[in-house]
Parts: sequence; C-alpha cells; structure tokens
Amino acid sequence: MNKKPFGIGIIGFGNIGTGTVRTLLNNREQIERMAGREMKLVAIADIDWETDRGVNLDGVRKEKDGKAVATANDIDAVVELIGGTGVAKEMVVTALNAGKDVVTANKALLAVHGQQIFRLAQEKNRSVLYEASVGGGIPLIQSFNGGMAAAKVTELFGILNGTCNYILTAMAKDGREYEEVLKEAMKLGYAEPDPTFDVEGTDTAHKASILASMLFNTAVNLDDVHIEGISHVTLDDIRFGQRLGYTLKLLAIAKDHGDRIEVRVHPTFIENDTVLASVCGSYNAVYTHADGLEGTLLYGRGAGPLPTGNAVLSDLIQLARRDGCDREVPYDNFFTVNKPLMPMANVECCYYLKFIADDHPGVLAQLSGVLGDHDISILSMIQLEPTEDGCAPVVMMTHEAQEGKVKRAMDRINALGVSRAVPRFIRVEQLPV
Ligand code: HSE
Repeated sequence: MNKKPFGIGIIGFGNIGTGTVRTLLNNREQIERMAGREMKLVAIADIDWETDRGVNLDGVRKEKDGKAVATANDIDAVVELIGGTGVAKEMVVTALNAGKDVVTANKALLAVHGQQIFRLAQEKNRSVLYEASVGGGIPLIQSFNGGMAAAKVTELFGILNGTCNYILTAMAKDGREYEEVLKEAMKLGYAEPDPTFDVEGTDTAHKASILASMLFNTAVNLDDVHIEGISHVTLDDIRFGQRLGYTLKLLAIAKDHGDRIEVRVHPTFIENDTVLASVCGSYNAVYTHADGLEGTLLYGRGAGPLPTGNAVLSDLIQLARRDGCDREVPYDNFFTVNKPLMPMANVECCYYLKFIADDHPGVLAQLSGVLGDHDISILSMIQLEPTEDGCAPVVMMTHEAQEGKVKRAMDRINALGVSRAVPRFIRVEQLPV
C-alpha cells in the first residue's frame, strides 16, 4: 500500500459512532485491503467525552466542536453521525464547502433536506454517501446504484424499522405486550433517541422517501407521505390476522405508476407464506419488483451499532478507492423528474375490517349491505363467540377496494350504531410468495 492514508473524521460519538470505530478496529486488515490504503481515524467530535465507549482511541484527536473535524486539512471524509436535521445539516454543509466527501447515517436529514444537500455536493464536486441511513447493515443503496442499476424498479415493499419489527415479532410469537417489548428494543440500542420516531412510522417514512426518490428518480415530499405507526396495534388484531393466515408488519410501500407514485407507511397484513412474513426480530428486508428482473429480496440486520457501523465503513471504502477522483454520478436522481404522489383516497388494496357487533339478527346483513353499497367485496370472515355482554367480534378480509370508499363505509357503519367500538381497518398487501 503506497497510497497516502485516507483521513477519516467522525462527528457524533453515540451508538453508531462507537459501532463504526469498533468495526474499524476489529476488521482493520480487511477494510484496508478492500480500500487499498490505510484508513486513518484522525479525529472525532462530540460534546460528551466523559462516557467511556470501551474503544481504543490512541492517536485520535478528540474535539468538542464538530467544525474542527468538518474543516480539518488532514481529513478526506467526514462522517456525520449526530442525527436530526439541525446541527447535522450545518456540519454536512460545512464539510462539503470545505471540499470533503461526506458519509451519513442520517435518514431524517436526507428525507427532509436531501435535495439541497445533493445539489451542494454536485456544485462542489463531492460525494454524499448514505448506505447506513436505510436498512442498517443491508447493502441497499449500493445494490440499487450498483448491481441493480439497470433495473427499472416499479414496486418496493420494505420492513425498514428494526424496533417495530422486533416489537411486532415478539407480540405475534410470544403474545407479549407492546410497552414491555418496546423497552427491550430501546435497551438493545435499536430505537431512535426518541422512540416515537420508530413506533409512529416516521423513521420508516424517512427511509421510504429516500428509497423512492432514488428508485423513481423523483423528489418525494415527506409531508405528502401517508404515515401510520404501530402504537395503536393490539394483540387481538395480530391474533385475528393469524387465524386468517396473515402476519402483521410495518411496511414501507412505494409504487411507480408511470405518471404518479405511491409512497405510504402503515401496519400491513401480508400472507404467512410470503418471504417478508418470515423476516423477524430486528431484521429488515426490502422486496422489489422490476420489469425483467422480477422479484429481488435484500435482507439483513436493520438496526444496531455494528451493522450500521459496517455500512458506514463500506461507504468510506468506496470513497477511499476513488483515490482523489471526482464524485461518481449521478446525484440528479433525487430531483430529475417530479411525479405527484397519489392521494391515499385513491389507493387500492385489500382490507382487514374489525367490528364489535351486537349479537342480534340482521346485524351481519347490515354490515355487508353497507360494504356492498361501497363496492367492497368480502373475501373471508370470522365471527367469535359472543361475550357475556352480548357482542361478538366480527373480522372480515376484503377483496381489493378503494381506500376512500372503505373509509366512507366505516363512517356509515359507525353511524348505524351496530358496532360497539369504532370499526377498525388494517390494509392488506398481496405479495409474491
Ligand atoms: N431506529 C432504527 C430502527 C435504527 O429501529 O430500525 C436504524 O435506522
């Protein structure tokens, strides 16, 4: 190795920063062989230098001010691991303006300010690599930009949040309660500093919008994405779904319809024998369909310091290999065309409907009558034994229907007063086996 060492600076020394340094120390020989040069961790910035992260930092400068790393002469690439969209953005912009390449794990930053950041990178002829921002250790971005670069992906279904998948798996397999499992996921370092980002679907939406922007070559406005998390999911719903042959997952769904796109995030029932149904715990997976290529599944650890640290290092290796050459094209991917997002009312899928019905003659007829009036056709149904207070849970799976009509039917049924609780629905997607 006769090339000069590749200088790395890290800003933000939390879970992922520690995982990145640990990966570099553990796999140094492999990493440098793949990069073709020495990978030198020059400096780290963080406001907390009291906490012992348990990694050897001999010879590494410890800074408190991120700008000292973002602009240092002996640093080639700046790794932004602060998170959030405030200071993190300032650091990325400072680093690009100082002529550095940037690696980030920050999905919120890219989902909200991606266009501005990629434009600046283009202007400065530098790179912003972001493998660690989506799907933890799964090489999604490099696969889509590399091995799948010739494929025109039209549909994506993703399990993109390790915390939610961990919670839903434990609820379904062990019958455990939501709150208890969430605490466990937080202890394991899967959850965001504010776990509402995980459980309310925001984190998945950030990742979905990055993937859809990239794959569909369009700017996705996060405010237009339908986002629904798992905090309202009940064990009952999971069990009813299981009885009908379905598994509940928090899915990111993105579809390219040519003139417009769909991007949505919500709890989704999928059939038990589909590949995504077997993705358990903190694992993530993305299933795509592309014309000609057909189905592709990318699967792996979606969260945690070491898998995410691996993704950061793989971006650094890409940069080190370029050996001073200019950035790779293209960045325009984020904003070449502008396809509108389809409104949720127009989306079509199948539905799981749940009513707590009065146990009287004619109630089922009333329910199915309203559904029929709204073009909603029933695929299967179960009614449980009535409880002591005379009501019986009724669960139906529908054929494909339009969301707007389903919502109107639910409102009508609610107004009829034959369901003791507000009728609930969960969307169902038909995925390839
Ligand atoms: N909080 C995220 C998750 C971490 O649970 O998947 C990875 O982005």
